[in-house]
Amino acid sequence: MTEPSAAGAKTVKSTNITRVTHRVTVTDRWVRNGHQSGILWFTGLSGAGKTTLALELERQLHADGHQAYVLDGDNLRGGLNGDLGFSPEDRSENIRRAGEVAALFADAGVIVIGALISPYEADRQMVRAMRPDLFHEVFIKSDLDVCESRDPKGLYKKARAGEIPEFTGISAPYEEPVAPELIVDTANQTVDQSIKALRDYISANLFQDRAVEVA
Ligand code: ADX
Repeated sequence: MTEPSAAGAKTVKSTNITRVTHRVTVTDRWVRNGHQSGILWFTGLSGAGKTTLALELERQLHADGHQAYVLDGDNLRGGLNGDLGFSPEDRSENIRRAGEVAALFADAGVIVIGALISPYEADRQMVRAMRPDLFHEVFIKSDLDVCESRDPKGLYKKARAGEIPEFTGISAPYEEPVAPELIVDTANQTVDQSIKALRDYISANLFQDRAVEVA
């Protein structure tokens, strides 16, 4: 579980490295926190509601005394992933790095909420493979026309005008999840209803007695 992985890296140049084993295990952290960790990976179109739901979920979990942290695509692209654009290759590397960070946070006992478009099934499978036992794919589902009518950042308008190339849903693909653990239908639900669905899922999967029994 704590093994890092260079799987998916375009080139692996790190050699002669020796892995160390933590003396605090992830289950030690789960017992301390009173819940399991996990990677809730939100995928969906721009404007589907990933960031809105991720931030409100994080706020509520924190208010209830739990360990939660949002990894948001836009924020990561302002730092760690600032050298990446929106070609399929760059998006793949974007997702790989975000996945590796999410895996580290999950090892640290945190409920990670990843909010990235992550349009390619293969890239999402890559992240799942990093921590198959901790990964939960959450499809934040909303039709393109609904997302476009919301257009919270005005990006669809720009994309339609040809000002943003390779824009997801317009001039770049979005591959819907094949078998997500949870579908949140934001086109037909209020934010409160979507948050409730997410909290119910978390309660059922990360707050089972197993969190303590495992240790
Ligand atoms: S991903 O496809 O690589 O997963 P990510 O979630 O990190 O994307 O970033 C998406 C954000 O970048 C959007 O919320 C939007 O603000 C911005 N963005 C800029 N250009 C594009 C584009 N061509 N396609 C999609 N989003 C874009």
